[in-house]
Parts: sequence; structure tokens; C-alpha cells
Amino acid sequence: MKSFTIYNPVKIHFGNGMLAQAGSIAKKYSDNILIVTGKNSMQKTGTLDKLVKILKESGITVTVYDGITPNPTATEIDEAAKIAKQKKVGLIIGLGGGSPLDSAKAIAVAAKGDIPVWEYLKTPANDALPIITIVSTSGTGSEVNRYSVMTNPATGEKPGFGYECMYPKEAIIDPEITSSMPPYVTAATGFDVFVHIFEAFTGKAKNEFSSAYCMQAFYLLKDNLIKAYSEPDNMQARGDMALASALAGLAIDISGVSIMHAMEHPVSGNYPNIAHGAGLAVLALESMKYNLNACKRDYILIAHHFGIKRADKSDDEYAMSLIEKTKEILTALNLNVRLKDLGVEKDKLQKIAKEAFATMGFAIDNNPAVIDEKGVLKLLENSY
Ligand code: NZQ
Ligand code: MN
Repeated sequence: MKSFTIYNPVKIHFGNGMLAQAGSIAKKYSDNILIVTGKNSMQKTGTLDKLVKILKESGITVTVYDGITPNPTATEIDEAAKIAKQKKVGLIIGLGGGSPLDSAKAIAVAAKGDIPVWEYLKTPANDALPIITIVSTSGTGSEVNRYSVMTNPATGEKPGFGYECMYPKEAIIDPEITSSMPPYVTAATGFDVFVHIFEAFTGKAKNEFSSAYCMQAFYLLKDNLIKAYSEPDNMQARGDMALASALAGLAIDISGVSIMHAMEHPVSGNYPNIAHGAGLAVLALESMKYNLNACKRDYILIAHHFGIKRADKSDDEYAMSLIEKTKEILTALNLNVRLKDLGVEKDKLQKIAKEAFATMGFAIDNNPAVIDEKGVLKLLENSY
């Protein structure tokens, strides 16, 4: 029997209208706060103003850093950490999708030290400012896990890191905030949840706890991903996708991700205008085929829970039907395209394959089937 340790200290507040609690939650940690957010969405929807107002009404001094771009860079993080130090803030609130939330964690670490954030990839951090996440997408799971992903804009490298001090103290998951996601963002982030479930459920590091999170996340996702995409105002679907995102985020906190993420990070690292979930979508089918033999039983189980009819299909045929089903979902979400359609240049594939190993080695190691750099290049070429 496998031995393991699991730990997740994030206090989760879930529910429509939960944003209103932000003042009393934040006040427990500090009355001098930095909000970290993106450049557009939270301003346009009025959520940022609402949050600032709620915090100020609780007597909190608020500074806003709204320079985080999708697939955030280490430069932005260092810039915001400098502001956090200058203002001597005692709490970082991340407001937005995975990009601002990941940045908030990295800023919380960098603000405590005196080295550029990139150096924390090699230098373990033991201390960070407290972090609160207020999530606006249903995708990365960053709201409840310790991971942060950042890009080196000079090289395109996009590794993830996550130390114990980077767990958010508290997470506010208010589905109303996610309801403004446009269809493309809903589709891409929702497919990210699917891949988290899939990779945590099939990866070598899986265990009973991560699988339990995966199963409930899967049940919520299978009935609500396409619904949230095609009926943006359906608050039941939005709420269930927000739950699925958090559950899958807890699953990857335990068991990590594998090959699709290992390949996708260098894709969106080198092409920051590619959405993480859209990158995963173009890599999913080839990766699933590659791994089929290594985790056939898991595929069969997921196919069964999807409600796919077994009839007289062999194990291989039934496992393959999961890949067909995934293709249907991608088509329904308008994400069933090729790497070249996303603007990736063919002569970059070699660099992407190399970086998958150099920056995402832990995800390669977690893949159910062994794969080398040549194998990864082949998957990228087949997805091109
Ligand atoms: O940039 P702003 O103006 O905020 O707009 C964003 C952005 O354009 C917009 N958006 C977000 N919430 C919205 C909204 N628009 C309208 N209404 C809302 N409610 O959507 C766009 C994408 O946002 P972003 O935060 O970049 O997306 P996502 O949540 O997919 O996060 C992606 C980042 O998270 C990392 C990815 O690599 C990528 O850098 N990941 C983090 C993980 C983790 N911490 O565990 C795991 C994941 O596998 C992933 O790697
Ligand atoms: Mn992901």
C-alpha cells in the first residue's frame, strides 16, 4: 500500500454574494492590503470597485496593483512585490482568474524577501505575507492550492512552484463573480478543470483522497461545462463549475498534473496570448491516446461515469470511447483546433519539447506512461 501525507489549510467560503464578507475576512489579517488583479475584467464588471468599497468600509487601507496579464510574468510580480514592500502591506488579496491569484501568491513570497521572484524556483521560501483569493474563473484551482505559475518573458520558460507558505489563508468562491466570463474564457477555463480531474485521477501520484475530489468534480463538470458555456446566465451551472474548479484544485494540490500540463506551459509561455485551457485542449487527444495503455482501467471507469454505453465493446474500444467523448466536448466548446491554429510556429516545437522537461519535469515524472523528449516532440507534431 502506498504511503502519503496530505495537507490543505485553506478556509473556503463558497456561495453567491460571498464577496460581501471580504471585509470581515480580510480584517483578521491586516488593515493595510494590496489587491492584485488583471487589467480589464474586474474593472469592467465593477467587482474591483465593489471589493475596494467593502474593504474601505471595514476601515482597511487599500492599494491596487492592476497590471497582471494573462500568463503573468516575473517582471510584473517583482514590480507588485516592490509596491507591497513600499506600502508595508500585511495581506495580499488576489482578485481574478488563475493569473492574478498565482501572482498574488508569488508577490506574497517576494515581498518577504530581497531576491527576484524567479530565484524562488531554486531557493525554497519559508515565509510569505498572508494571501486571500477571490476567484473569477472556474478553471485553475489556484483559489485553493499552493501553486503559482509564472513566465520569464525573456526566455518563454513557464514553470510552476508552490511552497507551504503559499497556501491562501482563505478563499472566497462567489459564483456571481464568474458569471461575466465570456464564452471563450468559460470554455478554456472549464476544460482546464477537466484536465486537472483527468491528470490527478490517472497520474502516478494519485491516491484515494485526490481521486475522491476528482470524482465529485467530474460529476459536477460533466453536466455543467457545456451548459455554462452555452447558457452564460445559468447560475446553477456557474455555481457547479466553481465547485468543480475548487475540488479539482484540491486534487492537483495532492496529486499534481502530468503530460498535457508539461507540454502546455511552454506553449503559453512562448505564446502568452494563448489561454492555458485552449493550449490544453489542442494537446488533450494525442496525450490521452499515448497514455491509454498505461491507465486503461481509469479510462474505463471515467467512460462508465460519463454514462457511455459499453454494449459489446472490448476494453480497448471502451477506453477509446472516452477519447471520442472528449473530442465531442472539445467540439461543443469550439476548442477542437490544432496547435498551428493557435499561432504556434512549427520550428518552435523542439524548444517547447525541451522546456517541457526543463521546467515541468515533475509533471513528466507523474505521467502514467514513461515518455522522453522525442516522444513529447511526436505528440506536439501530431497535435500540430
Ligand atoms: O486579465 P483580466 O482583465 O483579468 O481578464 C481575464 C483574462 O483576459 C479574463 N477574465 C477572468 N475572469 C473574468 C474574465 N473576464 C470576464 N469575467 C470574468 N469573471 O479572462 C482572461 C483569462 O484570465 P486568466 O486569469 O489568465 O485565466 P485562468 O484562470 O485560466 O488562469 C490561467 C493561469 O493560471 C495558471 C496558467 O498556467 C495561467 O498562467 N495555472 C495555475 C494553476 C494553479 N495555480 O494551480 C494550475 C493551472 O494548471 C494553470 O497552470
Ligand atoms: Mn491547468
